[in-house]
Amino acid sequence: MIRLATPDDVAAIALIEAGCFDTGAWSETLVHAEVTGERHHVLVADDLQAYGAISLAGEVADLDRIAVLPHSRGRGLARELLTELIDRARDLGAERILLEVAANNAAAIGLYESFGFATINTRTAYYPDGADALVMELTIEEWR
Ligand SMILES: CC(C)(COP(=O)(O)OP(=O)(O)OC[C@H]1O[C@@H](n2cnc3c(N)ncnc32)[C@H](O)[C@@H]1OP(=O)(O)O)[C@@H](O)C(=O)NCCC(=O)NCCS
Repeated sequence: MIRLATPDDVAAIALIEAGCFDTGAWSETLVHAEVTGERHHVLVADDLQAYGAISLAGEVADLDRIAVLPHSRGRGLARELLTELIDRARDLGAERILLEVAANNAAAIGLYESFGFATINTRTAYYPDGADALVMELTIEEWR
């Protein structure tokens, strides 16, 4: 089941962050800001095994996060969440979705490419570990 996150979910979402992003994990404070922010939309899935977040700015939506706890990966949770996030972005008036992903994150890039996201830019040595960031874009009208 996928549903909108509430402030009661902040601690569980922060645990997903810790389980998925190591030193780059968002704190409970950052997660709380995302969950309660006016332009932000946070969804949780499958009894808090996974979550995803977008933010809206005019016709552009940013995919801020999508993360699935390691033991729940490979069974379609990210696909379900991303589908719902894109539907919501479209309903809220977005025409495009942008995201940044580490160039060495094969699982996430595979997910995004399977939805039709295309790389539009590369930010060299963008992350603290020196990895490049790919900027990817999906035109919502062309999706599905
Ligand atoms: C990326 C991530 C969200 C995928 O979650 P998931 O629930 O395992 O993904 P799904 O089972 O929904 O898979 C959907 C598609 O993603 C792609 N994919 C998933 N895992 C993959 C892998 N290890 N290698 C390549 N492609 C992969 C495939 O296209 C897959 O479709 P398929 O099963 O029909 O082949 C998960 O690995 C994760 O949480 N990683 C850590 C956090 C992260 O890096 N988030 C993205 C940056 S914010």
